Amino acid sequence: MAIAPDFLDEIRARVGLGDVIARHVSLKRAGRDLKGLCPFHNEKTPSFTVSEEKGFFHCFGCGAHGDVIGFVMRQEGLSFPEAVERLAGEAGLEVPRATPEEREAAKRAATLHEVMERACRFFEDELQGPRGGEARSYLARRGIDDETRARFRLGYAPDTRTALRNAVMDAEHPEAMLVEAGLLIRPDDGTPYDRFRGRVIFPITDRGGRVIAFGGRILGDGQPKYLNSPDTPLFSKGRVLYGMATAREAAHRNARVIVTEGYTDVIALNRAGYPEAVAPLGTALTESHLHALWRMAPEPVLCFDGDEAGKRAAYRAAERAIPLLEPGRSLQFVTLPTGQDPDSLLAERGVEGVESCLKDRRDLSDLVWQMHTEARRFDTPERVAGLEQTIERLLDRIDNRKVQFQYRNHFRQRIFRQFGRRGDRSGRGDSEGIRIPAGMPPEEMPRSTVRYIVATLLRHPPLIEEFCERLADLEIQDGRIDGLMKSVLSLVHDAPGLDEEGLKSHLSGADAELADDLLRAEVYAQWRFAGPDATMGSAREGVSHALVGLGLSGVRAELAKVQKALEVDPNEADVERLVRLKSELEVLSGEEAVSADDSDAGAALKQIR
Ligand code: UTP
Ligand code: MN
Repeated sequence: MAIAPDFLDEIRARVGLGDVIARHVSLKRAGRDLKGLCPFHNEKTPSFTVSEEKGFFHCFGCGAHGDVIGFVMRQEGLSFPEAVERLAGEAGLEVPRATPEEREAAKRAATLHEVMERACRFFEDELQGPRGGEARSYLARRGIDDETRARFRLGYAPDTRTALRNAVMDAEHPEAMLVEAGLLIRPDDGTPYDRFRGRVIFPITDRGGRVIAFGGRILGDGQPKYLNSPDTPLFSKGRVLYGMATAREAAHRNARVIVTEGYTDVIALNRAGYPEAVAPLGTALTESHLHALWRMAPEPVLCFDGDEAGKRAAYRAAERAIPLLEPGRSLQFVTLPTGQDPDSLLAERGVEGVESCLKDRRDLSDLVWQMHTEARRFDTPERVAGLEQTIERLLDRIDNRKVQFQYRNHFRQRIFRQFGRRGDRSGRGDSEGIRIPAGMPPEEMPRSTVRYIVATLLRHPPLIEEFCERLADLEIQDGRIDGLMKSVLSLVHDAPGLDEEGLKSHLSGADAELADDLLRAEVYAQWRFAGPDATMGSAREGVSHALVGLGLSGVRAELAKVQKALEVDPNEADVERLVRLKSELEVLSGEEAVSADDSDAGAALKQIR
């Protein structure tokens, strides 16, 4: 629901930004601002500043930025309306409904809630009443005792077309409202009739525990097994999780939330002492579900059925979660024994069975690996390259660049370990303006190329993290540039996530001067990737090319020396170096394989023997 902007201003005015933040961060005055250690990333020197005057906080380290509402959202994992609600409460304000339409909608929702509550009570009474005998014995057979029945407010919808209609409908709750609430079905012609008939009723509540929909299970076999409320003004299947109201608190307490597939799984887990269980309502997990789960715990545990459908549901959830990952925020996966769901597992093996499955849970990266490698063979270079490509495309979708960086590293290593090939991109594209300028002798390249690399990195700090391994290996002749590179690498290591301004503000003395110099230089005509207008993408490719170029010229120079040495004095050690350098050259330039018995290496070997 939209909240009027002037009300938000009122909140900002009434709640002191510094006071709110000071509950979580120890702040010291620094001029007009307050300073402290950033609560949103790990740091040792304070780069988190609070300007009470402007009403904003800003972290020069990680770029976190916002007003008092934003701070509460981040710090406490609340949604925007929740944070507003919280702060309004503190300020002694009531959140107003912004427009007459919204006031009207709120009133309608209130009456719909009333209708749902009346229906829920009706179903509960029916389960206890004379018509509920069969349903009671069904629940008893499934091991659901009175306490559980009462806690989940289970009910029964009698097998007639009018029972609920007659019980709930009155002047204040007319037929149209019952239809809107999804309780009655309005046929094309004729009188609206009860949607749920002859079914055990599972009330579905919102986060606050108010009934907003129902699920109805057929007694015994039959189709459909479950019938759910349609989407209504109160209920949207893609947003609601069954069991949310109970699970929310428990999840915070236990720092865990367990996601299952069905109503009965949630109930069985609750009975077994896992109140932190929820389930989507017969749909795949949506983005909105994932956000709701992440508000409860950083790594929700998905515990889907041990069958093909459950596995596919887990894969789908993984696919959906990938773009949304954030540092510390992921999913975990439990594999249940074939043919089991949490309900049947508990019935068969009790808490121990669940515990042993939970213990064997796997993380998302592992599931992604399984997803792309199971039942396939990677025994040719093309197949490994295919895998690399698929995984790279998947990882491209990760929004958060720290997480993306870690995932790239992880899978590069994993592919390398498993299939003996390196998954790094040695960047061989040749988009205009990215290529190392033609006609530049390789021997001359290093000194100037490295300047462009550094300039590019200063403009696009995320690339420093991406290329850090290769940058650390770089031998830089120019002492000043070498010093700057070292400072930049260690800055990014200590305070990842710096942006261009943040990075520059941390440089001092000779480093700062040189940085200014490099960024001012008017020589980017040929080296567009290093210029101020280059996109991150072309900058990335440019750096990658330049690094290859640098590597190539270094290796070529060394190779030339070894070849000279071999002409003068053929010896085994130098032949080995020659072979090693050639294969390095091959990797760097993508040239043909060099085997020991061709060309100069072979010739040299013959001479020795
Ligand atoms: P399951 O078929 O696994 O049901 O469907 P279950 O929860 O184990 O139920 P029991 O133990 O057989 O009674 C999982 C979930 O999918 C939705 C329901 O939300 C169910 O809990 N579903 C299933 C439907 O919405 N409609 C259906 O016809 C079947
Ligand atoms: Mn099931």
